[in-house]
Amino acid sequence: MSTPLWSGRFDAAPDADVFAWGASFGFDRRLFEDDVVGSLAYAEALLGAGVLGAAEAAAIREALQALLEAAATDPAFVDGPDEDVHSFVERQLIARVGDAGKRLHTGRSRNEQVSLDLRLYVRRRIPALQQQLLRLIAACLDQAERSGGTLMPSYTHLRRAQPILVAHYWLAHASALRRDYVRLGQARDEAGQMPLGSGAIAGTAYAIDTAALAERLGFDGVVTNSLDATSDRDFVAVFIHSCALAMVHLSRLAEDIIVFGSEEFAFFELDDSISTGSSLMPQKKNPDPLELMRGKAGRAIGLSTAILATMKGLPAGYNKDLQEDKVALFDAEDTLVGCVRAATAVVATLRIRPDAMARAASGLLLATDVADYLVGKGMPFRSAHELVGAMVRSLVESGRDFSTLSLAEWRAFSDLFAADVQSAVTPAASVARKQTPQSTHPAAVASALTAFRAWSAPLIGV
Ligand code: ARG
Repeated sequence: MSTPLWSGRFDAAPDADVFAWGASFGFDRRLFEDDVVGSLAYAEALLGAGVLGAAEAAAIREALQALLEAAATDPAFVDGPDEDVHSFVERQLIARVGDAGKRLHTGRSRNEQVSLDLRLYVRRRIPALQQQLLRLIAACLDQAERSGGTLMPSYTHLRRAQPILVAHYWLAHASALRRDYVRLGQARDEAGQMPLGSGAIAGTAYAIDTAALAERLGFDGVVTNSLDATSDRDFVAVFIHSCALAMVHLSRLAEDIIVFGSEEFAFFELDDSISTGSSLMPQKKNPDPLELMRGKAGRAIGLSTAILATMKGLPAGYNKDLQEDKVALFDAEDTLVGCVRAATAVVATLRIRPDAMARAASGLLLATDVADYLVGKGMPFRSAHELVGAMVRSLVESGRDFSTLSLAEWRAFSDLFAADVQSAVTPAASVARKQTPQSTHPAAVASALTAFRAWSAPLIGV
C-alpha cells in the first residue's frame, strides 16, 4: 500500500486488507493513458490560470510525456501499491518533478478526473469497436453476395413462412449490426461533454479555461452543472446498453447458425476451424463459439442492469459506488470485442447448402402465393385465405403439396385457377412477386446490398 492522496486527515494508517479491497488500480489502470492525457491538458489550464509558472508547467509536461513513453515501452510499468490510477500518476509525477507535481491537483478532484478519464476512454475505444463491427457486417455482405439467387425458407414462430433469398437473410443480420454501429456512435456523443472545472462537486476556485480544455481534449462542449457532472454516468449506462443490445443481435445470429447448422436443417456447414469436438462422441462437430456468444449475451444484459442498479439509489454528488462503473464497462467492452471477433470468423468461413435450403423453400409455404393468385383473379383476400386454407388441409391429409396438382385438381378447388397457376406458384415466382424496397425481391435485395456497401465503404479504416 502506498500513502493515499488523503492521508493527512488521519491518525492511523488504513487497514491494509480493506484498502486493498477498495482499491481500483487493479482495473482502472486501463485509464492510464487517459489520465495522463487529461493531466497534460489540466497542467496547461493551470498555467493559463496562473497557478503554475511556465517552468513548472514545462517540467510537468515533460514528466507526463515520459510516463506515457515508459508505459508504451513496458506496459508492466503501470503497476504499484496505489489506490487508483490517479494516485499512481500523481506519485510518479511527484517522484520526477517534486513540488511542481504536487501543484497539479490544485482545484482538481478525482471525482471529475475519473469522469474525464472514463469519457476519454469511451470516446477513443468506440471507433475501434465500430471498425470490428464493420468487419462482421462485411462478412455478412460477402455471404449475401456469394449466395446469388439461392432461396431459403423464412420462418415465423420457427415454422416455414415464405421463401426468401439467402442474401435477404444475411442483410437482415447486417441491418441489426448497422444499428449497433450507429448506436455506438451515439454512445460516443453521450460522453461528449468535458467535466473538468467541476472540482469535487461545487466547481473550482481557479480560473481555468474549460472551453479550451474541452477543445484540446476533443470534446463537443463543457458540462453545465458540476454537481450533476461528478456523478453522471449516463454515458456509461448508454455504452453498456449499446454493447448489450449488440450482444443480443450476436446471440440471435448465433442461435440461427446453431439451428440452421444442425443435422435437422443442414442449411449451414460450420468450418472445422471454429468447431469443436466431443471428448466422448466421435461424430460430434459442435458450434461452441456460437453457444458462448449466446451465453455471453446474458452476461452483457446483466452488466447493463448492474450499472443502472448502481446508479439508481445514489444521492446527488459523487459516491464511491460509482467505482463499480468501470468493472461493468470494461467487461461489457471485452465481452463484445471477443464475440464480434468470433462471429466474424464464423460468418466468414460458413458454407451454405443451397440444395437443402431450396428443398425447404418449396411446398406448402407457397400458400400465400396461391391466395395472391386468386386475389389477382378478383377474389377478395379473406375469401382466398379461406379457400387456400381448405386446400392446405386436404393436401396435408394426402401428404402432397401444390407442385403435384394437375390443372384439373387445381380447378376442382376453384375455377379461377387457370393454366398459369403452375408457374405462378413456385419459390422463385414468390420472391419475384414482392414489390417493396425492403422485400426479398431480387432487385430490391441487390440494391439493398449495393446501398450497404456504399454505406460501409467510406467508414472502413476511419
Ligand atoms: N477510484 C475512484 C472511482 O473509480 C476514483 C474517484 C475517487 N474519488 C473519491 N472521492 N474517493 O470512482
